[in-house]
Amino acid sequence: MNDRPVAIVTGAGRGIGRALALALAQDGYRTVLMARTREQLESVAGDIAQLGGAVPEPAVYALDIADQQAVREAAQSIVERFGRVDVLVNNAGRWAAGIFDISPEEFRQLLAVNVAGALTLVQTVAPVMKRQGRGHIFNIASRAGKVGFPEEGAYCASKFALVGLSEALCKELAPQGIKVTSLCPAWVDTDMARQAGTPLPSAEMIQPDDLVKTVRWLLSLSPAACVREVLIECRHSLAS
Ligand SMILES: NC(=O)c1ccc[n+]([C@@H]2O[C@H](COP(=O)([O-])OP(=O)(O)OC[C@H]3O[C@@H](n4cnc5c(N)ncnc54)[C@H](OP(=O)(O)O)[C@@H]3O)[C@@H](O)[C@H]2O)c1
Repeated sequence: MNDRPVAIVTGAGRGIGRALALALAQDGYRTVLMARTREQLESVAGDIAQLGGAVPEPAVYALDIADQQAVREAAQSIVERFGRVDVLVNNAGRWAAGIFDISPEEFRQLLAVNVAGALTLVQTVAPVMKRQGRGHIFNIASRAGKVGFPEEGAYCASKFALVGLSEALCKELAPQGIKVTSLCPAWVDTDMARQAGTPLPSAEMIQPDDLVKTVRWLLSLSPAACVREVLIECRHSLAS
């Protein structure tokens, strides 16, 4: 059915992106899944197919979000194939420790994935949303985009940049019916949190499903209501 809405989710192979892609498919969106690891995307696509009912088959784009040309070509192919984009979730992200010991190449990669990748997709998708007169862009930033943490300066810089980009887009695109929200969670129970050395056990972290509930709530608001940013704290580490 071609009148179904379309949602692009980057970093859809695991963690938060996987949970959001599954939920949006469940809610009737035709989903477009992006990340580098094709097997993980195929596995999520399989899980979506298992949902049964009238859930549409997802489209899989295995690419590096830092590769601007590949992202532009993919976005163009998505627009040609589906004719519309209703939701864009810029979720693909990379973590790295360090301030003084981070290499210039690693810092460049952080910015390329966490900021420039999102910007490239927005540049290619926003014109479609403008034509539609509606759309919702979610930028999965971080609490590290609101609070600076010692020994995580490069990652914080990339997430502060994403929050700034998101706020500017929110104001620029609102008159054209497009909502832009940055989601800024603290520790979320995923591979990345463990890679980053979270001190919290799983049960004390935000769950990917909390991001799902947040996105569903935001999508349920009236066209007039615009939420620029949602900061989600971990109850157990509020003081840090
Ligand atoms: N977990 C946390 O505590 C936490 C807290 C706040 C914010 N966040 C943010 O939430 C987002 C999702 O994180 P997560 O915790 O779900 O992490 P995750 O489980 O490690 O998943 C990250 C996803 O992003 C994809 N990705 C990474 N680099 C990519 C690239 N260069 N091109 C395309 N896709 C890429 C990964 O797939 P491939 O590796 O196959 O490419 C994967 O699908 C990130 O932006 C992260 O910074 C996480």
